[in-house]
Amino acid sequence: MAEDLTITASTDKTEQYTTLIPQIEALLYGEPDLVANMANVAAALKEQFKWFWVGFYLVKENELVLGPFQGPVACTRIGLGKGVCGASWQQAKTLVVPNVEAFPGHIACSSLSRSEIVVPVFKDDKVVAVLDVDSELLDQFNETDAQYLEQIVKLVNF
Ligand code: SME
Repeated sequence: MAEDLTITASTDKTEQYTTLIPQIEALLYGEPDLVANMANVAAALKEQFKWFWVGFYLVKENELVLGPFQGPVACTRIGLGKGVCGASWQQAKTLVVPNVEAFPGHIACSSLSRSEIVVPVFKDDKVVAVLDVDSELLDQFNETDAQYLEQIVKLVNF
């Protein structure tokens, strides 16, 4: 697999994801290392979408602990039910937050973050990680992102 990513200039989300997903599959193909794979997924998403922050938090001893990410430095540990990430973990479902200021308990790792989506990652029916994406703009995520990001995290062999 060449390490170059083909980025589409399209602003259509479906086209962006459908261009990206086969490339993510190729990046992950034959690579068993989880950290390497999370790192490349975060980088590929960041390159295509130019989001403010993209990364993983891993469930470790009843906390979420920061994993591979792209973007500014972030909070290292998040408790169950805390913030959008902890809520997604607790509820075991994807959360789309159009305006983080309107989300009770939102954890502002950066004051620049305005909207957010958090997707849980399941292994044996348990949440083992979450994928967190932040934008500096309001209302940047919708059901299309939820569907495709859920598909993308399933490509990573946790
Ligand atoms: N805003 C998140 C915390 C993680 S950072 O945005 C990277 C939350 O409320 O869970």
